[in-house]
Amino acid sequence: MERTFLMLKPDAVQRGLVGKIIAKLEDKGFKLVGLKLIQVDRSLAEAHYAEHKGKGFFEPTVAYIMSSPVVAMVWQGKNVVALARELMGATNPANANPGSIRGQYGMDISRNVIHGSDSVASAEREIALYFKSEELVDYTKAGEDWLS
Ligand code: PPS
Repeated sequence: MERTFLMLKPDAVQRGLVGKIIAKLEDKGFKLVGLKLIQVDRSLAEAHYAEHKGKGFFEPTVAYIMSSPVVAMVWQGKNVVALARELMGATNPANANPGSIRGQYGMDISRNVIHGSDSVASAEREIALYFKSEELVDYTKAGEDWLS
């Protein structure tokens, strides 16, 4: 089953939005298989955003991600990478559907409350950056086999 890496960014933690955003992900029906509150250090922040090194927003983004704890999560489900991106809305909250997480809560492209992997390959890379395999929990969720 497909997995994605989602991170509630410092503004989500500081603004007390953690529970509300997790509720939306649970309501959608995804299965939570990994969760932790962590303080991101510089080497992890730079590794996470490595593809953007050299761009003008790289340093501010690294500083932002280190500015407060974040909630690192792994969610599982059919087509979860694309569906979670849909639920999150556009990277720039100004362009995000008002019903999406960024549309509802995002303030700015540099304060957009949530990160989500953009492909299955990115998800594998990001999950490995943030989680040890033993931190991911395999379990049966109530109703999981209802329609299968
Ligand atoms: S792009 O346009 O392809 O480079 O952007 P993308 O890969 O979708 O995501 C870029 C991440 O950097 C954060 N960020 C910004 N992006 C673009 N412009 C500015 N000014 C900027 N400031 C910050 C943006 O929120 C994306 O973060 P993640 O965590 O991937 O959502």
